[in-house]
Amino acid sequence: MSSRPSILCAAESRDRVVQALSGAGPSLAAAVIVAGGEAVEIEAFGAPVLVVAPDQGEAFDTAVVGFLEKAAPREALVYHSGSDARTLRDALGCFATGVTVVTTRDGEGLPVGLTANSFSAVSLDPPLILFCLAKSSSNLDRFRTAEHFAINVLHIGQQPTSGVFARSTEDRFQDVAWEAWDTGAPILSGALASFECATHEVVEAGDHLVFIGRVLRARFEPRRDPLLYFRGKYRRLHFA
Ligand SMILES: Cc1cc2nc3c(=O)[nH]c(=O)nc-3n(C[C@H](O)[C@H](O)[C@H](O)COP(=O)(O)O)c2cc1C
Repeated sequence: MSSRPSILCAAESRDRVVQALSGAGPSLAAAVIVAGGEAVEIEAFGAPVLVVAPDQGEAFDTAVVGFLEKAAPREALVYHSGSDARTLRDALGCFATGVTVVTTRDGEGLPVGLTANSFSAVSLDPPLILFCLAKSSSNLDRFRTAEHFAINVLHIGQQPTSGVFARSTEDRFQDVAWEAWDTGAPILSGALASFECATHEVVEAGDHLVFIGRVLRARFEPRRDPLLYFRGKYRRLHFA
């Protein structure tokens, strides 16, 4: 008999149980037990059972997740310095981010840009922000020599744009509407927010360069939802 817990719930609750489990980690439960109407006795010897009444409102998810954590604590994965980079990547992927397209112009004035989620606010006074660029980027020298760059925060409808700017295509700007402000760094039309920056400092850091920019101008849209990135997948905001 499995030592993992089972969940006993009424039929009406089934969809919500499945939804809560997909958030908590489905493998934590030995079984999801659905009782039609009144609760019935189901094979659950040796395994903890949570009886879930329908319509518990907002307490529902908390009850299910709390029960699972207590009855079957999750095994944490561990990274040690020097061990595999994949595990470190997975650990870092636990930090949910937005998605941006960072842009600049090359020596001939052509627009360049790539998808980046390494964006962070740094300072309000002076106004500083940063992003990290892989040293392997084909655009490394273009960003290094440019005196300006822009960071465009994508909204939920711009996932295709994120895809275009993450691929090694020749002209990523072909089907994307953009404009230039004072410095010429491409501002994607309709982005959730755009920050036009003067390059303040470029810091060497391992296999990346950290570009710190002084914000010259920002424009943002206060109503739309952001495109999110978490555990290697695009996500959307979910409000309970
Ligand atoms: C969601 C997402 C986030 C990314 N974040 C970064 C980043 O912060 N820095 C980076 O150098 N590359 C990042 N990349 C990878 C680049 O977008 C990708 O390698 C791009 O094609 C590089 O093109 P380039 O070599 O022409 O610069 C990210 C890709 C995705 C899909």
